[in-house]
Amino acid sequence: MTITDATATGAWATLNELYAGYHPDLRAAFDADPERARTFSFACADLHVDLSKNLFDAQIKDALVAVAEQMGLAERREAMFRGDRINVTENRSVLHTALRRPAGDELVVDDVEVVAEVHAVLEKIYAFADKVRDGEWVGVTGRPIETVVNIGIGGSDLGPVMVYEALKPYVLESISCRFVSNIDPTDLAEKVADLDPETTLFIVASKTFTTLETLTNARMARAWLWNALVEQGAIEDTDETRTGAVAKHFVAVSTALDKVAAFGIDPANAFGFWDWVGGRYSVDSAVGTAVAVAIGKENFADFLSGFHAVDRHFVETPFADNVPVLMGMLNVWYVDFFHAKSHAVLPYAQYLHRFAAYLQQLTMESNGKRVRTDGSPVSVDTGEVFWGEPGTNGQHAFYQLIHQGTQVIPCDFIALANTAHPVKDGDQDVHELFLANFFAQTKALAFGKTEEEVRAEGTPEAIVSARVFPGNRPTTSIMAPALTPSVVGQLIALYEHITFVQGIAWGIDSFDQWGVELGKQLAMQIAPAISKDDEALAAQDPSTRALIEYYRSQRR
Ligand code: F6P
Repeated sequence: MTITDATATGAWATLNELYAGYHPDLRAAFDADPERARTFSFACADLHVDLSKNLFDAQIKDALVAVAEQMGLAERREAMFRGDRINVTENRSVLHTALRRPAGDELVVDDVEVVAEVHAVLEKIYAFADKVRDGEWVGVTGRPIETVVNIGIGGSDLGPVMVYEALKPYVLESISCRFVSNIDPTDLAEKVADLDPETTLFIVASKTFTTLETLTNARMARAWLWNALVEQGAIEDTDETRTGAVAKHFVAVSTALDKVAAFGIDPANAFGFWDWVGGRYSVDSAVGTAVAVAIGKENFADFLSGFHAVDRHFVETPFADNVPVLMGMLNVWYVDFFHAKSHAVLPYAQYLHRFAAYLQQLTMESNGKRVRTDGSPVSVDTGEVFWGEPGTNGQHAFYQLIHQGTQVIPCDFIALANTAHPVKDGDQDVHELFLANFFAQTKALAFGKTEEEVRAEGTPEAIVSARVFPGNRPTTSIMAPALTPSVVGQLIALYEHITFVQGIAWGIDSFDQWGVELGKQLAMQIAPAISKDDEALAAQDPSTRALIEYYRSQRR
């Protein structure tokens, strides 16, 4: 029997007591325990994770771990890795961890050799990537591909674009990728404006191959390709040449290969995956095909091995040292006891500039839920808002609120010991200057600046309070040697498992996303009302009707 209400566990009652008697004072905690940094720092594959600047102590840590235990985290984790249908509202297994298991591993689910199937698709992707990279895959006029345009949205976009950006130093010089997601026609128009159709390859990525944005963009891309090829005299304007152009310039990634064929893409040029891969957990499936083309099979395999290393840590490490367990339960602690509404992720790595956007779907589509797996309403808050920007840009924008505002905003700082661009400004190593900012921010957030310290600087009394930093602002510092493909995989897997842990603590289904459906349905119902159907317009609520009428009055 799955327990879904954490507040009914004994460990939650202990947490309540501990919280009542807890008065966060990180200065005092570090003074009292010179070993605190060491005690609360953990290794997770290549990641060095320092939790010591969080608002907790050994007793609270034990109670958080006990909540995880009493909520059956170990059994739920096993069930996920084994392929049980833990996505109850969609009656599906949740097996993204199988996507990165080494060839030869055995996992049989519903009589299917899952790992063997995964590797068969991977081999097909690698063969395709090799062909494109080697210039063997050519467009209709025999020219090699220079630009890959991935068309997808949500999980079929955010993962690939984030990883492509993160691994730019590993991208083959002769190939670049672009990503089209928004149904705003501006997105496609801008992305193809300067492209040569003869050297452009589109990857249409959609798990369901029914998503309005992706299919609309794919049709528009196909029309652009045909028109541009005809205009520059590359093909005759016939049905046959158009079909031939699609075969050379379009491939697909989907679980619905029948729909791929209906679009006109040869299923031989399609890379499949499975309904047990959630969209937001899919960048390590065929959804990562654009990335595989860009960085090549060895680097992509290294990327997958990074995920797997963290999977093993999550499965094999006792909860007391298990980084996803500790980080996930700390998030629960902040949301449900400190009423934290948001969580900042602040990479000190420009290449990770899309990481927070990627995490928004991973965490918020997963844990933005108000009922538990048994249908009962949750009794505590769930699903904090994840957000962030790379340092140091954020320092000059929103850090003010984190340092001196009234909200508790737990922050994860991410930094790399080595940069892809070592450079000096005079005698100053610029990466070290960058890192100095990372170290300084976590220090300032934890320890602040007292009234006495502000006064000691000769500050006029009237502005002393404005210059005080209260400190005790919780941060986690994640460091790694460098932003390699493996480390990027490790970071993603870490946050996947943190999200899972939070979902188990809250008793919710982290793998469905019913909350996105209503808006999709209404958009289809409203579409006819916008330009012509007056009856459909009259059927709208007064506010929607008035907005559409405004649109009609303004359109040119
Ligand atoms: O609408 C939400 C969603 O279903 C996401 O979960 C998914 O990643 C995205 O749409 C795209 O879906 P698809 O890959 O099927 O086009």
